[in-house]
Parts: sequence; C-alpha cells; structure tokens
Amino acid sequence: MASVRVLTSNNRHSNPVFNGRKLKLGTFQSNLDSGCVMSALDGRLEITWPNTVTLAKLADEMEFEAIVPVARWRGFDGANNPQGAGFETYTWATGIAASTTKAGIVATSHCSLNHPIVAAKQSTVIDHVSGGRFTLNIVTGWNKPEIDMFGVDILEHDERYNVAEEWLHIVKRLWTEHDDFDHEGKYYRIKKGYLQPKPLQGPHPAIMNAGGSERGRHFAAKYCDIVYTVLTSKDFDECRRHIDSYRKLARDEYNREISVWSLAYIVQGETEKEARDFYNYYVHEKGDWSAAENVIATLGVTAKTIPPARMQAMKEHFVAGWSGYPLIGTKDQIVDGLNALSGIGLDGVLLSWPRYIEQMREFKDVTYPLLKQAGLR
Ligand SMILES: Cc1cc2nc3c(=O)[nH]c(=O)nc-3n(C[C@H](O)[C@H](O)[C@H](O)COP(=O)(O)O)c2cc1C
Repeated sequence: MASVRVLTSNNRHSNPVFNGRKLKLGTFQSNLDSGCVMSALDGRLEITWPNTVTLAKLADEMEFEAIVPVARWRGFDGANNPQGAGFETYTWATGIAASTTKAGIVATSHCSLNHPIVAAKQSTVIDHVSGGRFTLNIVTGWNKPEIDMFGVDILEHDERYNVAEEWLHIVKRLWTEHDDFDHEGKYYRIKKGYLQPKPLQGPHPAIMNAGGSERGRHFAAKYCDIVYTVLTSKDFDECRRHIDSYRKLARDEYNREISVWSLAYIVQGETEKEARDFYNYYVHEKGDWSAAENVIATLGVTAKTIPPARMQAMKEHFVAGWSGYPLIGTKDQIVDGLNALSGIGLDGVLLSWPRYIEQMREFKDVTYPLLKQAGLR
C-alpha cells in the first residue's frame, strides 16, 4: 500500500491560545445582537459590522487569545429577540482576522450543517488571513428550531457526536494529507478528497469544543485542544474538581493534555452597590424573561423536571449573561474574581459585558492594567 504523506510538523506558536499567559482571555458572542444579555438595556450590543469590529479591536489591544462567535441561525423571540440578528461565524471570522493583528480568531461550526470539505477550506482561509491565529470551535447543535430551518432532523444527542467524530476526521485529513483520499463512512462519502493550500498552523489549527455531557466530555478530551465548561456551582472546591476531571479524562484515557476554559460576565461599578444596582436594573427591570423561557424550553428543561426556585435562577442566569459566571463589583473585586477563577484551575475565561462596547472599553482602560499587575497577564 502506498504510504500516506501527512503533515506532522508542530507549528502552532502563531496561535495565541498556546501562549504561556497564566489566564487567557477572550470575548464571547460578539457576533450576535444583544451580545450575552437578554434585556431591553439601552447600550446593549447592536450588531453592525462597525460595532463588532470595535469589540474585536478592543480585544486585540489587550491581546485576547480568543474572540469566540456563536453559531446561531435564529434568535429566541421574547420581547427583543436576542441573538436573532447576527453574523455567520466563518465569514465573520475572516473579516475579524483582517481587522486585527494579535488576538486569537475563532469560527464556530455546526458539524451537521457545514459540510467538512467546505469547513476545512473556509478554516484554511481564516488561518491564512490571520497569520495562523485561527481556532475552530466545533458544536453539535441543540437549538431545534434553528436546525429545523435547514429541513434536517436533529439527531439523538450522542449520535450528534458520532457525526462530529467522522466530520472532524475528514477535516483533519484534508488539512494534513498531501494525497487525495476517498472516505466511505456512515455519514459522509468523499471522493478524491483534496485541499490546497494547507492551513498555516501545523499539523492543523487548534480545536475547541464545549462538550458537557459524558459523550461530549469524551469527544473534547480525545480530539480537542481546549474545552469550555460552564461553572454551575458556587462552591469553588466543586468547580476545581469539575475542571480537573476534564484534564484527568484526557490524560488517563487518551494520553493528551487539554486546556479548560469557562465564561463569565462583568458588571463593574465605582462601588459594589453601584454594580449591584446596575445588575438589578438590566436584569430585573429590563430583562427579557420570555426570551430566557424560550431558551430553557428549547433546552428541554421544564417545571416538571426542576423546582421553581431553580428554574427562576436558571432564567436569571441567561438574562444576566448567557449563564456565564457572574463577576459583579468594583474593579478590584473583578480582578480578585478573575484571580479566583485562575486559582481553581481555569486556563482561560471568555468575557462579556452588558453594555458591551462601553463597558469593555472601561475594562481595558481601568481594570486590565490591574490584571497585569496581579500577574494574570
Ligand atoms: C462557551 C460555549 C460556546 C458554545 N457555542 C455554541 C454555539 O455557538 N452554537 C451552539 O449550537 N451551541 C454552542 N454551545 C453549546 C455546546 O456546543 C454544547 O451543546 C453544550 O455545551 C452541551 O454539551 P453536550 O452537547 O455535551 O450536551 C456552546 C457552549 C459553550 C459552553
């Protein structure tokens, strides 16, 4: 049998997600209307190209390691239809790559909706435009109304990861193999698969995923460089065990090292009271609770499955910051909070702000220098 010529070089130093910073930072959902809040708050993100580029440039100035978009095809209705308007992530990431010079660039891909040849090709373009700063975030899709839009059936949960496995196998072969190949699988059939040029990063761009289920955790541990996890407990010891469990799974079962990141939102004030008053204003006075109810219903959580108090807390979590970890307080408290997240073992945190542009700018000017002083950056 002819040997397969495969790219084996390790050439990923251009991607900031692999840098040595103690706490890596990113932004989340800056490609979608309203950003991470579900609220009628004035000054929330209005999705226009100049606005999303403004956020990317702020991230670039702070050398954030990942500007992470969300793959979303329709919003959550309610009063303001948060996340309804938004930019498709591969094309968005190409423009963001061209508008920045240092930050890590991410595209998020529904593997069931993006054909692997197209995904491999588009990813390669972004890697070239960004000079090797690209990371591919793989998602399997959970939001049934948006999958329905494509006229395809949403697969049973674990089978979505079977598709993802085969999809990623093809994408990696296209990125790394120099000879054409055929592939006959359960979900895809490729004839004389070919891709040139190859991505700049070798053997291929970084891969991330947010698998939370048992099947998803194994997928991330086996194939990904970075896994995102949502912190659901306020008990830091429990969070630390949860974070460690990803690294342990990757090491014990797959002999791999994996970075673990999470997400948080920042509500900063001159005083803690000012920050909390602002939180109450945009969450309790202006919150779009019906949109949050729609998210929860789509997730399949019902009043029958959880008690009313937990249901209310879950909704509040989505309204306030798309279920990120709340960092609320003065600039010093925000720095302490990020320090604590680093302390429980997180390698990186994706951030968002309710008034995304205004408050991220304030963070850059006022809070970011303190993070550097604290040795986190
Ligand atoms: C940081 C983060 C980003 C995510 N981005 C998307 C996305 O862009 N599109 C999407 O459909 N799902 C997205 N998800 C959902 C995950 O892909 C995944 O479905 C979820 O974490 C549950 O894990 P499971 O699939 O293993 O059950 C994201 C989750 C997290 C935590």
